[in-house]
Amino acid sequence: MKIAFAASECVPFAKTGGLADVVGALPQALAQLGHSVSVYLPKYKQTTLPDARVLLPSVTIPFDDQYRFCSVLDGGKRSGVQFYFIDYPPFFDREALYGTPAGDYPDNAERFALYCRAVLEASKVLGVPDIFHCHDWQSALVPILLRTSYADDPVFHGTHTVFTIHNIGYQGLFPPDTLPLLMLPWDLFAIDKMEFWGKANFLKGALVFSNHITTVSRKYAQEIQTSEYGFGLEGVLRARAGSLTGIVNGVDYSEWSPEKDKHIVRQYSAENLAGKRESKYDLLRQFGLENAPIDTPVVGIVSRFAAQKGFDLIADVAHELARLPVIFTVLGSGDKEYQELFLKLSKQYPAKFAVKVAYDNMLAHKIEAGADMFLMPSRYEPSGLNQMYSLRYGTVPIVRATGGLDDTIEPWNPTTGKGTGFKFSAYAGMALLTCMHEALRSFKDQPGWQKLMLNGMKKDFSWTASAREYVKIYERLVPPKPAGPAEKVLEFSRA
Ligand code: ADP
Ligand code: GLC
Repeated sequence: MKIAFAASECVPFAKTGGLADVVGALPQALAQLGHSVSVYLPKYKQTTLPDARVLLPSVTIPFDDQYRFCSVLDGGKRSGVQFYFIDYPPFFDREALYGTPAGDYPDNAERFALYCRAVLEASKVLGVPDIFHCHDWQSALVPILLRTSYADDPVFHGTHTVFTIHNIGYQGLFPPDTLPLLMLPWDLFAIDKMEFWGKANFLKGALVFSNHITTVSRKYAQEIQTSEYGFGLEGVLRARAGSLTGIVNGVDYSEWSPEKDKHIVRQYSAENLAGKRESKYDLLRQFGLENAPIDTPVVGIVSRFAAQKGFDLIADVAHELARLPVIFTVLGSGDKEYQELFLKLSKQYPAKFAVKVAYDNMLAHKIEAGADMFLMPSRYEPSGLNQMYSLRYGTVPIVRATGGLDDTIEPWNPTTGKGTGFKFSAYAGMALLTCMHEALRSFKDQPGWQKLMLNGMKKDFSWTASAREYVKIYERLVPPKPAGPAEKVLEFSRA
């Protein structure tokens, strides 16, 4: 089957969060299962493409007031996956992917509309796929255009769309006059299509027009059908419940394994944990805490700073947390509010909260390896990747039981010796604090703790299982052709 991915982030070309990790890994897993996969990405300033060849020098993208002309670059093949880049410097040669700390770029609708139209036009030349697999609002116009402006284009008549929601909190909301500006039909501005409380909602359009919708864990697929988690789109999702599937993300273990991690001082494994202790020394050093007693439990946080991540719970019980016999090592960037919260805590309690406001991949790896526990108190978490990375590094997750965090972490039971981490349910500072107390009690029983670590290290969240789930969905939309006579003969001769 021919599958084309359309997404706004992908490791190693551009990343702000887990979407990039998924788009970097899932296509490879699909290619390994024998499918032909290409990935279309915008070419940002931070995307380094040393010998990229121009494949299509000029693709015409109509806007209401002018034509714009972008090009398409050949990013080459990596692990069996073909990469294409939409190049349009006036839109993508900027400091950040989506905006600055002051807010989103005001022309984001035009930027990603150009990208989506270019993907469709380029695919007509480079190869029309059986499935367009689109991700989050930035690629939402692909399924919308295919069912509206491109509905009569004969080359796409066999093409189907799968749309994955990575985060329903980001919807791509724009004023209604964006539709004519982008040359989209005005009848899309209707309550059963893109209209949403007086605005044009890109994500809603994708949920209406895609052939199948997925999201990144089973629990989140349920949650987004409720008013508590649906961000106003719960009704649309309930109406499409029969075409909505939750598939948990996988882990790229070639990047995230203590056995082969290039970023940590000494590699280690479940059989030999000596490198984990060295990684803890190194982590404390990185944060200027080399004199801290090595047996003090270290709690790691690596995160975008956003309301989603539940840091207001830390704010609620910060003084109680500071009295616990632990050290928090925090790496994050994003909303000013949370930067200020953590920087204030690090000033107030320098021996307890060590904080770096930055985006730093190497330090993220060092925290996964060097910490004893990893905290994710998310308000909501569609899948979450860091808790799965933590399991592999023997770093015990402490999570709020929501979305993918609930699906991937099993509560530790010291009596049975089963479980992989600690979970709390209520979105309340006290619930977080009680859970921290429970984790610290368990940490005192070191033989039990070792068992808990090893339970997590043995878990396998590799991509293959999830990739097979996606293939089932693709094949429901585009049933595989029955084997031809030659292949049948081969099957008989093997039997
Ligand atoms: P989200 O996509 O909501 O940010 P995920 O848990 O799915 O959450 O993925 C986050 C990814 O981004 C992980 O790979 C994590 O290591 C990385 N990450 C987040 N913040 C930082 C940071 N400040 N520095 C380095 N890596 C980060
Ligand atoms: C989103 C979610 C996160 C998920 C990631 C990749 O950014 O917040 O939970 O892991 O997408 O699917």
